[in-house]
Amino acid sequence: MSAAARSLTRAEETRPVEPLELRRVCGLFTTGVTVITTGPDGDADGTTVNSFTSVSLDPPLVLFCLHRQSRLHTLLERSGGFTVNFLSGRQQPLARHFAGRRATAGATAFEGVPHHFTDDGLPVLSEALAHLTCTTVDVHSAGDHDIVIGEVVELGVPGHGLEPLIFFDGSLGPLETGADRFQHTRQAS
Ligand SMILES: Cc1cc2nc3c(=O)[nH]c(=O)nc-3n(C[C@H](O)[C@H](O)[C@H](O)COP(=O)(O)O)c2cc1C
Repeated sequence: MSAAARSLTRAEETRPVEPLELRRVCGLFTTGVTVITTGPDGDADGTTVNSFTSVSLDPPLVLFCLHRQSRLHTLLERSGGFTVNFLSGRQQPLARHFAGRRATAGATAFEGVPHHFTDDGLPVLSEALAHLTCTTVDVHSAGDHDIVIGEVVELGVPGHGLEPLIFFDGSLGPLETGADRFQHTRQAS
């Protein structure tokens, strides 16, 4: 490679990454969609999150990333835990509802949204595909987000067999091939 070509490559490599470009490219990584819910009855709230991932089976740990200004931080601290609700393909309106900004947490967040509370007092979206209820065990600061790690204490699959909601390239929609196809693949393997 010529010196001119080498310096061109280096210049490209050190070009700062624009936040919007990063968001656009990361949006090509297909994910499911969750709503993280937390807070006591009467003051509970939730936020739509696709940064969920499982971390460890033993002990059972999961994580999600929460932006620093989120209204959920205070509620998370007060509750000491949270629920990860996996949305089904028909719950796109819920994803939009919990992605909306509100001046204050809680109050009307769950109006018209079927939900119940666990024995530990954490809110669960009753019609979600599945849920994990967690105790917060660690919070790591990372840039403009916090990485919130939870230990799973309770789980459920109320919507067994339903299609998941998918987030790809900035759009929300049901997994169009159908969850059935994946269940057959699993049985065959
Ligand atoms: C599909 C989707 C995925 C999102 N994932 C995240 C996420 O992983 N972390 C996050 O902090 N916000 C995420 N958001 C944005 C929050 O839902 C939104 O900023 C928030 O609900 C607005 O209120 P808040 O800023 O008070 O939390 C996502 C939004 C959508 C629509």
